Amino acid sequence: MQTTEPLVKADNLSVKFNVGSTGFWGQEAKWLSAVDNVSLHLDPGEVLGLVGESGSGKTTTGRAILRRVPIASGTVTFKGQDITHVKGEKLRNLRRNMQAVFQDPYDSLNPNQSVLEIIAEPLLVHGLIKNIKEARPEVKEFLDLVGMPTDAVDRYPHAFSGGQRQRIGIARALALKPEFIVADEPVSALDVSIQAQIVNLMQDLRSELNLTYLFIAHDLSVVRHISDRIAIMYAGQLVETSDRTSVYDRPSHPYTQALLSAVPIPDPVVESQRKRLKVVGEVPNLIDPPEGCRFSSRCPYVRDRCLAEAPELREIAPKHEVACHFVEDIPALSLAAMGS
Ligand SMILES: Nc1ncnc2c1ncn2[C@@H]1O[C@H](COP(=O)(O)OP(=O)(O)OP(=O)(O)O)[C@@H](O)[C@H]1O
Ligand SMILES: [Mg+2]
Repeated sequence: MQTTEPLVKADNLSVKFNVGSTGFWGQEAKWLSAVDNVSLHLDPGEVLGLVGESGSGKTTTGRAILRRVPIASGTVTFKGQDITHVKGEKLRNLRRNMQAVFQDPYDSLNPNQSVLEIIAEPLLVHGLIKNIKEARPEVKEFLDLVGMPTDAVDRYPHAFSGGQRQRIGIARALALKPEFIVADEPVSALDVSIQAQIVNLMQDLRSELNLTYLFIAHDLSVVRHISDRIAIMYAGQLVETSDRTSVYDRPSHPYTQALLSAVPIPDPVVESQRKRLKVVGEVPNLIDPPEGCRFSSRCPYVRDRCLAEAPELREIAPKHEVACHFVEDIPALSLAAMGS
């Protein structure tokens, strides 16, 4: 059997934020468990879609892998090297190879910088050019690569639409020729009509430049076509992982079923007759998370064991893992007709 070494690997990764000790008298530390025991990997050239609602820990997972938030426990490996604790020059070099594209292209581009400065800045910071002007021909090539006119080079972000700005953001992420990109909800702030264009651009760039993406979204429909595998996150933990089709054809964790139920189906007949799973109840407090399943407070199928014991991810079919004690008893919710 051929084995590829993953480009990126997280093993039992946990991130905790201190949300307590701000008081003058050194108020006691209170830890918010934003990411708990998350393991995932990305093979070279692969796209992993990471999906979950707001606050589920997607951004923090991405930032931990990029080494931009402190890691409480677990390890991150990049190209076979444990990078959990690398520092200084080594970390700087590593960052050239791991870039991010952000959600809000209005927020993430400095309005006072020209497109030339925005895209060339990482090159300057990493000492690859001596001054911004030098990068002009290269920046034009990057603009062309992301489908922007090359005369955009001297203009400022305000001159562009959201979709165009996101193209500029992507060009900036590509400037250092990274192998790995964390795309953190890159289309969530854009009009639905523009979203597909940006996803398609990212798809094209991925094959052209052999990129690997951790593609974050809160909506399962956004990542469907670009992802090779999907990971569903709830309250800091992974609850379901699968290849590109299984979560859509056979969503198995009640939370995944609820996420899919929220995606509209374009066919009005199917839409009106479809089975949905709605969940009610409160998201758990991550400062004092429950001992058992973190989804138990909202799960319509909750039983005693769920309150006492946290379920681990386990394989229910090849390449399909679910963290639910009673997954075999959860009624099926097939949404194969969704948007395909
Ligand atoms: N710097 C921080 N300090 C304290 N708490 C934080 C910090 N960053 C994130 N959190 C908390 O960690 C949890 C996970 O946040 P995160 O931003 O990773 O979620 P997310 O899934 O990306 O959400 P969204 O869809 O809103 O972007 C949330 O409860 C959030 O409030
Ligand atoms: Mg986020």
